[in-house]
Amino acid sequence: MRPYDIILKKRNGGKLTKEEIEYMVMGYVNGEIPDYQIAALLMTIYFKHLDKDERAILTEVMANSGDRIDLTPIKGTKVDKHSTGGVGDKTTLVVAPLVASLGIRVAKMSGRALGHTGGTIDKLESIPGFKTTLSLDKFFENVNNFGIAVVGQTANLAPADKKIYALRDSTATVDEISLISASIMSKKLAGGADAFVLDVKVGSGAFMKTLNDAKELAEAMVGIAKSHNKNAVAVLTDMDEPLGTYVGNSLEVLEAINTLKGNGEPRFVELCLTLSAWMCYLAGKGDIEQCKSLVKDSLESGKALEKFRDLIIAQEGNPKVVDFPEEILPISKNIITFKANKEGYISKIDTEKVGIACNYLGAGRTKKDDNIDHSVGMKILKKHGDSVLKDEPIIQLYVSKNSNIEEALKLLNEAYQISNEKPVISNIIIDVIK
Ligand code: URA
Repeated sequence: MRPYDIILKKRNGGKLTKEEIEYMVMGYVNGEIPDYQIAALLMTIYFKHLDKDERAILTEVMANSGDRIDLTPIKGTKVDKHSTGGVGDKTTLVVAPLVASLGIRVAKMSGRALGHTGGTIDKLESIPGFKTTLSLDKFFENVNNFGIAVVGQTANLAPADKKIYALRDSTATVDEISLISASIMSKKLAGGADAFVLDVKVGSGAFMKTLNDAKELAEAMVGIAKSHNKNAVAVLTDMDEPLGTYVGNSLEVLEAINTLKGNGEPRFVELCLTLSAWMCYLAGKGDIEQCKSLVKDSLESGKALEKFRDLIIAQEGNPKVVDFPEEILPISKNIITFKANKEGYISKIDTEKVGIACNYLGAGRTKKDDNIDHSVGMKILKKHGDSVLKDEPIIQLYVSKNSNIEEALKLLNEAYQISNEKPVISNIIIDVIK
């Protein structure tokens, strides 16, 4: 087998075999095939795509390239949730304890912030003392004893995806649906769950900017799960504005706690309840209507909040954060305001720019090893369709001495459009694909 022939075959529209995909991927991981040949293959896939079988094989090969977590020491059906990434997406902080409070074991491996999107692990690390790295034995012990554990992904989870993703990032081949779906699902399969709820974001703050692309991605991911005999449901959700009220690490933990106390923003609550209900459905708790009512009861009764406290205690965080979040969380006291430059309705928000503006404040990272300032972020006062007067506050920015306030404000000015017409607002839940 020669890399040249495999690239040529795909370039001419051929279908790659398992042996060919394995040869290319593992040859790259082992350093036997150079960057330039894999870059050529990726660009070829960008234009010719992979069919259902090729995607399933690529996913399997990448999942097998490192550790595959065996979750069998944990009893019951293990259901994982994955979001394709957005701005202000603190959903896991609510959904994980909500589902665990119903007796479903939550063994979750989450990611960190990258690009304009945030990461659950960085958010949890804003809770003083909270440990996001546990040994595998401790991880299982916590899930069996408390019903929940949320940790960072192990270093050796799908290493082929890490290496290929870095190359895609530098060769303009990230935004191809076969490659994205195989990349996400390889990590999910390696994580060992039995079933998946996939939150596929659509809109200006998402990877997928159009509904058609998001649907295609959702169908590809559900298809990959099914071809590995795993159940999956994809929920298409709106990301044309930041999710909820806050963006930034400590601020999003504050919002999650407020939501678990019953004081959540309605669209965010609807999203959390919907994703939780589908997780319960996949765990066999009943039909979807029964599951919706189960999760609503758990949120309203405070059981989900108590499960969040269990999670914090189990991972050595300061549990007082649940009762006194504003005192315990590191939240900047320096607040400046971004104001409307004219009167009208908020007609469009370029949410990706809001995410990047938050990074200028210090909340995210542009490179993998950048440090994060947990105390900074934004409170979104005005969202899609809201009316504003000239000079009325739209966003409060929580800043620190290292924040690049000038760049952040410049981006926010570009991100927010105000017009005379009230826009049509999309539902937070757009579609469900099974
Ligand atoms: N997230 C991933 O993990 N992989 C991609 O390719 C895109 C988003």
